[in-house]
Order: sequence, then C-alpha cells, then structure tokens
Amino acid sequence: MSFVYILLMQATVILYLHSEVTGKVEFTNLKCTSFDPKFSEFEYCHFKAINRTFKYLSLKVKLYETPITNVKVNVALLKRFGGYKPFLYNVTVDACKFLKNPSSNAVIVYLHGFFKSHSNMNHTCPYDHDLIVDKLTADFLNTQVTEVISFPFGEFLFQSQWFAYDILRASVNVYVTLS
Ligand SMILES: *[C@@H]1O[C@H](CO)[C@@H](O)[C@H](O)[C@H]1NC(C)=O
Ligand SMILES: *[C@@H]1O[C@H](CO)[C@@H](O)[C@H](O)[C@H]1NC(C)=O
Ligand SMILES: *[C@@H]1O[C@H](CO)[C@@H](O)[C@H](O)[C@H]1NC(C)=O
Repeated sequence: MSFVYILLMQATVILYLHSEVTGKVEFTNLKCTSFDPKFSEFEYCHFKAINRTFKYLSLKVKLYETPITNVKVNVALLKRFGGYKPFLYNVTVDACKFLKNPSSNAVIVYLHGFFKSHSNMNHTCPYDHDLIVDKLTADFLNTQVTEVISFPFGEFLFQSQWFAYDILRASVNVYVTLS
C-alpha cells in the first residue's frame, strides 16, 4: 500500500486544480493508524521539525499478508473552521490502476520523479515488501503552490483511508498549513 505516495499525489492534484492565492505549504503533523495489525502495522510514523525551515515526514509500514494486489484509498481534504470540515474534495481511487499509468498525468510524472529519492513505493502493484517514506519534505508542494497554482490560506488535513481487498486497514492523516 503506497500510503503517502498516493496521498501526496492526490494532494498535489487538489492543489493543482483549485486556485485562489499563492503561499507556502508546510507540514505541521502526521498521524498514522492501523485498524488491522494482523495485516499491516506502522513501525514508525513521524513528523520531525529540525528547525523552522527543515521539516519532514518519515514512515514505515510492515505488511504481513503479501503480495498485495488490490488497494483502494479514500482521500478527503478538510479545512479547519473551528474543527476540521470537509472541503472541496473527497474521492476514492483504485491505487493499483492509478499507479499502472502514471504517465497519463503530468503532475503525477513530476511526483514520481520526486518520490524516487524518498520512497521504495515507486512501482506498480503488487507490493510484497515493507513500505518506507524517508524524510519527505513539503518542498514539492511548495513548488506547485508557488509556481503553478494558488489556494486559500489556512490549516488543512489530508485524510486518507486505506483499503486492501475492500477492508479498511489503515489511515494516514497529513496536517498542513498554507500561509
Ligand atoms: C535547518 O536544518 C537543516 C538540516 O540540518 C540545515 O541544512 C539548515 O541550514 C537549517 N536551517 C536553519 C535556518 O537553521
Ligand atoms: C467521504 O465520502 C465518504 C463516502 O460518501 C464518506 O463515508 C466519508 O465520511 C467522507 N469523508 C469526509 C471527510 O467527509
Ligand atoms: C525506485 O526507488 C529505488 C530506490 O530509491 C530505485 O533504486 C529505483 O530505481 C526506483 N525505481 C523507479 C522505477 O524509479
């Protein structure tokens, strides 16, 4: 399950499609939840702020029932208005089909290039090994936001729910601010 890979591809597609104001995207937190520890577990899942400008996400997912050939992900964007409320986007994607043809979308080609150096999730299904995202920074979102699109300022939550064989296995929530 290419958790953050798909999540962030989706995030960039969202940012790409909805334009208002330009600004800087920063990660503020990361929360991973396993609903089915017999299937998959997070060995670690952390957000690190080394200093004001260098912040990154790292996570490792251990997969216990490999190979995995069927993955769906529901990604919803929420914006903070007091509490987090659904905002613009809520979609379910067949991840294996989506990864099979990344060249169909210029944004995904861009992200694929980015991920090659940060993750071992850079291939199509099946997944038969533990998944790692290593020191992923928000730089690529910043590039999209500042050079390509714009987006309303505020606090956002990219909420993702991960299904294998149509059973909910895990969630990964990425909190970001745009200022
Ligand atoms: C933040 O930390 C990174 C990595 O250690 C370093 O390269 C960078 O110079 C630091 N930036 C500031 C403003 O201290
Ligand atoms: C997204 O849509 C699904 C299906 O309609 C729904 O179950 C889920 O609660 C929605 N998520 C959010 C954050 O609104
Ligand atoms: C995927 O990432 C690995 C490790 O970073 C790299 O060796 C490999 O060439 C990459 N594969 C593709 C298809 O980019």
